[in-house]
Amino acid sequence: MSTLIKNCRLLIKGKLFAKNILIKNGKIAKITNKEPKAEKVIDAKSNFVLPGLIDAHVHFREPGMTHKEDFLSGSMAAAKGGITTILDMPNTIPPTTTLDALEEKRRLAAKSIVNYGFNFGSTTENISDIKKAKNIAAVKLYMSYTTGDLIIRDFEAISDIFKASRTTIVHAEDDFVRDAVEILIKNKIRNHVHFAHVSSEKELQYAKSNKIKKQISVEVTPHHLFMDSKDLQSLGAFAEMKPGLKTERDQKALWEGIANGNVDTIASDHAPHLKEEKEKANYPFGVPGVETMLPLLLDAFNNKKLDLSAIQKLCCENPAKIFRIKNKGFLKEGYDADLVIADLEKRQAVRNDDLLTKCKWSPFEGKILKGWPVMTIINGNLVYDDGEIFDVKAKEVQYAR
Ligand code: DOR
Ligand code: ZN
Repeated sequence: MSTLIKNCRLLIKGKLFAKNILIKNGKIAKITNKEPKAEKVIDAKSNFVLPGLIDAHVHFREPGMTHKEDFLSGSMAAAKGGITTILDMPNTIPPTTTLDALEEKRRLAAKSIVNYGFNFGSTTENISDIKKAKNIAAVKLYMSYTTGDLIIRDFEAISDIFKASRTTIVHAEDDFVRDAVEILIKNKIRNHVHFAHVSSEKELQYAKSNKIKKQISVEVTPHHLFMDSKDLQSLGAFAEMKPGLKTERDQKALWEGIANGNVDTIASDHAPHLKEEKEKANYPFGVPGVETMLPLLLDAFNNKKLDLSAIQKLCCENPAKIFRIKNKGFLKEGYDADLVIADLEKRQAVRNDDLLTKCKWSPFEGKILKGWPVMTIINGNLVYDDGEIFDVKAKEVQYAR
């Protein structure tokens, strides 16, 4: 099967060029000025074409909480948002902390229409399973409060987990970021640590002002970039997540981190909960995000807050590099044909009714954004086209050794 995507505008060394992309058997066969013959032709209409986004932090809730989301609904929402690969988090029911739970999740994820990978959960007792777990992106370690019951506070246990896994994603808030860095330094651990959803100036400083910053990466979320604690007044529980929204000054520090390279990735931390659940007195923490992440970033581009190369680096290239995902994150010949066509001029409001996530709400509802994905192609297949989803199953990602 071959497809030609013609009239693309894509970034080459930071500049936009008009090119055509030939896809053969799910891979990028050629990026060219010519118009090679193909069985199918898609006209990108001179829109911006970027590699499909790799969202390294989603909670698709399966198994155990499929009333909130599942791999099909979550992946449909992701595809609509221009995300072509997700890495799922382990705080499901049961948690992904055993080899059996990982295999079960692998079986369930086969219904996903975006490519997928798994983060394995850590406990104080599962080091041997961490070492045996096959084809995982990273090990997730919770040092701070979260949905589920996976907190580890014991420094020795944390050190053992860092030692056992090539990459650990840490949910650490405030001083716990410093503690995690100190554990690495003190025990001379050389493995990689990725700090999830860094939300404050202080956390960013702890993560990046140290002598081992090369083995540390920092992720920020769209909600911390585009909302701050003042939004709690109007949104209440619908703007409550862990870590919580911070001050304008903290938000500014995250944007500075993007500008100076201290922030490595942006991930949605898509954490859907139903409206009814959010309306309860003891509401759960988390907000959905896969459908709004790219539009928010493209809108920020239109507002001159960041450039297209930065979006591509933070959402495609760097996640592929950090998690060593094979053949993804770049528009390159031989790479997987995962790509997004984005209309940078399209202006549209975020509307709850349009959302494909099962929770059907967004903290950004009503916000008019300029810049939207209009087509998403995954493994060479058209999966999202202007409001329409095509249920073509995707694949589990592979990692370089
Ligand atoms: O807000 C959050 N929601 N933070 C977390 O750490 C977990 C997530 C969830 O699973 O709902
Ligand atoms: Zn999360």
